[in-house]
Amino acid sequence: MAQTYLYQKTNHYFGQLASGSEKCGMAELREFGAKSIKPGYLGVYFCANQRTLCEIVYRSRIFSRILAPLIVFDCHSEKYLYKTAQNIDWADFLTLTKTFAITVNVADSNIRNSKYAGQILKDSIVDQFREKTGERPSVDTRNPDLLLNLYIHKNKARISVDLGGGSLHKRGYRIESVEAPMQETLAAAIVRLSGWKGERPLHDPFCGSGTLLCEALMAQCNIPAAYLRHKFGFLRLPDFDAAVWNQVKTKANAAIGELDEGLIKGSDIDAGALKAVRANRAALPEGGKIKVRRADFQSLEGFENTTIITNPPYGIRLGDTEGTTALLKEFGDFLKQKCTGCSAFVYYGDAALAKKLGLKPGWKQPLRSGGLDGILCKYELY
Ligand SMILES: C[S@@+](CC[C@H](N)C(=O)[O-])C[C@H]1O[C@@H](n2cnc3c(N)ncnc32)[C@H](O)[C@@H]1O
Repeated sequence: MAQTYLYQKTNHYFGQLASGSEKCGMAELREFGAKSIKPGYLGVYFCANQRTLCEIVYRSRIFSRILAPLIVFDCHSEKYLYKTAQNIDWADFLTLTKTFAITVNVADSNIRNSKYAGQILKDSIVDQFREKTGERPSVDTRNPDLLLNLYIHKNKARISVDLGGGSLHKRGYRIESVEAPMQETLAAAIVRLSGWKGERPLHDPFCGSGTLLCEALMAQCNIPAAYLRHKFGFLRLPDFDAAVWNQVKTKANAAIGELDEGLIKGSDIDAGALKAVRANRAALPEGGKIKVRRADFQSLEGFENTTIITNPPYGIRLGDTEGTTALLKEFGDFLKQKCTGCSAFVYYGDAALAKKLGLKPGWKQPLRSGGLDGILCKYELY
C-alpha cells in the first residue's frame, strides 16, 4: 500500500506566483474555495480538498505552479538530502516507463548550488529504482511525466509534486511570439487588477503578440486557464481521482461564454506582431472576435468610455532607452488629449519609466516578471 505523504495528511499545498501578484492569487484561491490561505516566500500556502485542488490547477490564471508537498525536513547537507529522499517510495509516483524532472529553488542554506541539489535528489530516486529492479527511470527535462520541485530555504527542505506538470503560464495559445512578450500569468494579474469585467470596451494599443488581449478574453468568457493544456502532473499522484478531475473539467468547460463583438480590441505598429496575435487568438474559443489592426498609436483617433490596458515598449529589452522615453511622452499626451473618460492601466517592464509618461497615476502596483522589476500604474483620464 502507498505511504501517506504530507499533502494527504494536511491537505496543504503551495502556489508559486510572481512577486506583486500575491493579493490577486489569494483572492483567486478564496473564489475557488481554498481555506487557510497564507502568504509565503514567492507564493501562497493554502488548504484544499481534491475538488478545489482540481479547480485551482485547471482554472487558476495567476499561479505559475501548484505544489503538493510529499515531505518537509531539516536539511543541512547533500548527504542528508540523499538519505531522506530515500524515505519516499518513488514507485508511488513513477514507473520505469515514465520520465521525470526536478525544478529546484535554494536560498540561505548550507546547500548553495541548486543544480547540484537537484542532481542529488535525482540520484537518490534513480538509485532506489536500481536497487529494487536493476533498472532506472529516465530524466526528461522538456516533457516529463512527473515534475518534482525541491525547495530548500534556511536549511529546511520540501520535496513536492508539481501538479501542473510544468509552469501554468504556458496556456497553450502562444503559437507565435514577438521580441518582448509578456508572461501570461502576469497579463492575467494585470487584467484582474484593472477590475475590467466587460462593462465597456478594452483596447491594447501596443498589443504585441496579444497576451493581454488573450487573457482578457479568457477572463471575460470564463475559459479555464489550462483549457488548452494536455498534460497535468497530478495525474501521477497515488490518490489521483480521475472522476473528480473529469467533473471539474466538464463543468468548467460548460461555463465558457461568448464574447461580444468589438469588446476586446488591439493594435500594434509591427506587422510581425499582428501575425502573432492573429495566430494566438485563433487558438482560443471566441478568439476570432478579438479585433486587431496594424496601427501606430499616434494614428488612432482616440477612445471614449474604454479601458486601455497596455504594455508599451521598454528600453531594457528592446535596447533603445531614448526612443522609449520619447515614445512614452507621446503616449502620455495621446492619453491626455484623446482618451478622456477612459481608464488606462499601463505596465512598464522597468519601473523607472513610469515617470516618463507625464501623468500622475491614481495607484501603482509593483509586479515582477521574468527578472524584470515592472510596475502597473492606473490613470483616470478626465
Ligand atoms: C513590450 S511589447 C508588447 C508585448 C505584448 N504585451 C505581448 O505580450 O506580446 C511593445 C509593442 O509595442 C509595439 N510598438 C512600438 N511602437 C509602437 C507604436 N508607435 N505604435 C503602436 N505599437 C508600437 C511593438 O511593436 C511591440 O509589439
